Amino acid sequence: MRIGFIASVLLTLSAFAAEPFAPYASVKPVLDALAGQLPAALKNADQSKWNAWSRQEDRAIRARLEQGDLDSMVNLLLFGTSFTSRSRIQIQELAEASKSGLLRARVDDLVRGMQAPGANERLIFVRNLLRRKGIDPDAPGEKTGVFILQNLERVLKENVVFSQRIQQGSSRAQVFRDRGVSLDTTILPSFGLEETLRDLKSRGLLRNGGVTRAAVIGPGLDFADWDAGYDYYPQQTLQPFGLYDSLMRLGLAKTGALEVTVFDISPRVLDHLRAARERARRGEGYTLQLPRGSSLQSRPWTAPTLRYWQNFGDQSGLPVDPIQPPSTLESVEARAVRIRPEAILSCTPADLNIVLERLNLAAAEKFDLIAATNMFVYYDAFEQALALENIHTMLKPGGWLLSNDRLPELPDASMQREGATSVWYTDTANAGDTFFWYRKH
Ligand SMILES: C[S@@+](CC[C@H](N)C(=O)[O-])C[C@H]1O[C@@H](n2cnc3c(N)ncnc32)[C@H](O)[C@@H]1O
Repeated sequence: MRIGFIASVLLTLSAFAAEPFAPYASVKPVLDALAGQLPAALKNADQSKWNAWSRQEDRAIRARLEQGDLDSMVNLLLFGTSFTSRSRIQIQELAEASKSGLLRARVDDLVRGMQAPGANERLIFVRNLLRRKGIDPDAPGEKTGVFILQNLERVLKENVVFSQRIQQGSSRAQVFRDRGVSLDTTILPSFGLEETLRDLKSRGLLRNGGVTRAAVIGPGLDFADWDAGYDYYPQQTLQPFGLYDSLMRLGLAKTGALEVTVFDISPRVLDHLRAARERARRGEGYTLQLPRGSSLQSRPWTAPTLRYWQNFGDQSGLPVDPIQPPSTLESVEARAVRIRPEAILSCTPADLNIVLERLNLAAAEKFDLIAATNMFVYYDAFEQALALENIHTMLKPGGWLLSNDRLPELPDASMQREGATSVWYTDTANAGDTFFWYRKH
């Protein structure tokens, strides 16, 4: 009996761990519909060409994370305040900062910080990243600083290419198709998702208590960026808790009856959430810092955006004293919330490349709702169509995908766009997003 039980558990585990790659039969309609846009290796595709290409493509996508990590290092150089008290440098101020010596001084501070990182997790991360790249931050000489500056130069050149593509009228996906996959995140897309859920509910498309299983694809990790991410607090992920909060606040889910699966390809995101769960099992909460204040955020937020920020966490945790921003960030206003262990434990991380992989879920395990913001933007139309197919297999019939990226609509596609919600973050033009709703038929 016991051996039988263990054998059946092992069988279940191996089934869950079984190859998650999308099978050829399932993606064939996508390959047929986009026959003119396929990579050369998939011309006249068959099972074995698909198997070879999808494995190779998975490796290529995951390799883009390393480039994103180097971009994070550049962000830390320009915007970090944990290793220096010098002013932050916005991209448009770079020429001036280079002339005045500010840039060089920040590079020196960053290198010194990496040599003695203490408990600064971002410096430890960059130090390890450089070592993987064959650079020893402890070695005397200029090599580390030069490497950092070379990466800054690469990022600037890429920005020029991206703006040229935008001027040529390329779609978001075409603009960023070869960019490193970054983890940047802010509170604003979570607000956009809440507004979209509210819209769906008011139209009778989602009902009270109707969501028991939800997923977030690519929640990201707050590291340091120009606008709303700072390094004066520990790295954090917001979106799983934001979605949990919104579903509860709107009555779409009930306490104790919601599971949120968090898909990502980034070991940084996945390990971060695993560690939070480990602590939650010991009864510890997860503290989220909610800064608000610099550039985009200092333009007046709309009243609903402000209200969202003020209430963030009221369903999943309790307000606590925030870490005070350093004096270099004097315009930043801070609040903080500690997420309860039960809410943390209802969020389960899973390593999954949504372009190529899916979980083979039983009908009752499928999702009512999947949210993915600022994630599809890294992929071209073919990759997005593959991702849609994978999402389709993991949704319940009638289930929703919500995304601020408009995805390709193929004839006879199993996921159809049903509408969209426009959300404004600030009272000035251009600071908003459109969230598209796709439904499984
Ligand atoms: C720019 S961040 C967006 C974070 C957050 N969703 C937001 O809007 O603020 C992109 C996230 O998507 C994840 N991601 C990128 N490609 C992915 C893929 N193919 N499958 C799963 N996650 C992916 C990244 O690792 C990262 O966590």
